[in-house]
Amino acid sequence: MTERAHFGKIGAILATAGSAVGLGNIWRFPYMTGQDGGAAFIILYLVCVLMLGIPGMTAEFIVGRHGSSNAARAYQSFGRGRAWGLVGYMGIFTSTIILGFYAVVAGWCAYYLGASLLGGVNGSADEVKAYFTQFSSDPVKPALCALLFIFITHVVVTRGVRRGIERASNLLMPTLVVLLIIIVIASCSLPGSGKGVEFLFHPDFSKLDSNVMLDALGQAFFSLSLGTACLCTYASYFSRQTNLLKSASQIAVIDTAIAIMAGLMIFPAAFSVGVNPDSGPSLIFITLPNVFGKAFASVPWLGYIVSILFYALLSLAALTSTISMHEIGTVFFQEELHTSRSKAACIITLWCSVVAVVCSLSCGAVDITLFGLSALDFCDFLTSNILLPLGALATCIYVGWIIPTKTVRNEFTNWGTVGSSSYLVWLFMVRVVTPVCVVAVFLHQLKLI
Ligand code: PHE
Repeated sequence: MTERAHFGKIGAILATAGSAVGLGNIWRFPYMTGQDGGAAFIILYLVCVLMLGIPGMTAEFIVGRHGSSNAARAYQSFGRGRAWGLVGYMGIFTSTIILGFYAVVAGWCAYYLGASLLGGVNGSADEVKAYFTQFSSDPVKPALCALLFIFITHVVVTRGVRRGIERASNLLMPTLVVLLIIIVIASCSLPGSGKGVEFLFHPDFSKLDSNVMLDALGQAFFSLSLGTACLCTYASYFSRQTNLLKSASQIAVIDTAIAIMAGLMIFPAAFSVGVNPDSGPSLIFITLPNVFGKAFASVPWLGYIVSILFYALLSLAALTSTISMHEIGTVFFQEELHTSRSKAACIITLWCSVVAVVCSLSCGAVDITLFGLSALDFCDFLTSNILLPLGALATCIYVGWIIPTKTVRNEFTNWGTVGSSSYLVWLFMVRVVTPVCVVAVFLHQLKLI
């Protein structure tokens, strides 16, 4: 067997942050914040990231780096029974479902990028809405855009860990931050933008209920790519010198900062033109083009540039995440079937393409509903609110209670060289706090507590 590839020091952080930063930050976080009460939701979200996200990420890193293989095998590498491999299998399955529906939204972004370049997405609020409804319910165009997105992901992943994934992340992540900063400045300098900033930072706790709690939890896991075995797979490319807790914290800070900046990009512009940002998932496709059009009405060329930059930003962020979702399954099939990377990647590409086409068609072209939700919404709900928390819960129980403490301690402290002082606090979080919180939120949802 050839030696396993390793990320470089910066590459490890950028690639993992690239996985974390995506549509979750720029599409999901703002619409959830808009719909779930602004700052109150953000506070709950921050608590989830701090108390559950960072400890959970570190736990997943421990499994991945120790296992030094694909996720299913990594969960079996501690000799505690093959059944634990199921957690890895579940993660691999979850990530392919996410990739399927995620590619649909990423495809919309890419289409809107093209349309913005051609100066297309403008007009009155009703026209912009009709444009989106017509486009998303078209049987062919959005599905093709999703397939194109999966194909680009496929190309990067087949180029390998260092030449494909790491290089792409090192290039895309800094570009993304620069684009984001430019749009935040443009949005915050609009007249009346202060109300949007206030909405983001002034909490209204009356909005908080159990659904908002589940949303915040699901969003934290989704945004940090937690519970999908993605962090586990990327950690298998970390070196023995990588400080796992520090890396998890750095990635969580980058991810949260980008989500808040996405809020600072969207809400000030929306409030400045008097648009309510609570329209849900279609926020960035219906509300925003309208907002950009109105906000920059006196300087149309600036509006043109901002909307191009915005959809380019979304597409790039989505790409670094789809790469990570694809990699989980690709390396699994590559190692388990002893086949080439490109053949393994083809299996994932084909399966995800099927999921993507079904999700795409369910947005209006064909009536495909599951439990009253469109296939796309169902996949989103199933993965973010059920499978990801379950995956993270199982990982925390596994690392906290099942695998030998000595191994956990060695991985956490890099064999006694770093982080010994935070070990016990972290262990308590992973053993008790994370599992109790996740279970409590589930039980509350089922109306059992
Ligand atoms: N974290 C990514 C985002 O915020 C989504 C993702 C989920 C990526 C799970 C990989 C695995 O968009």
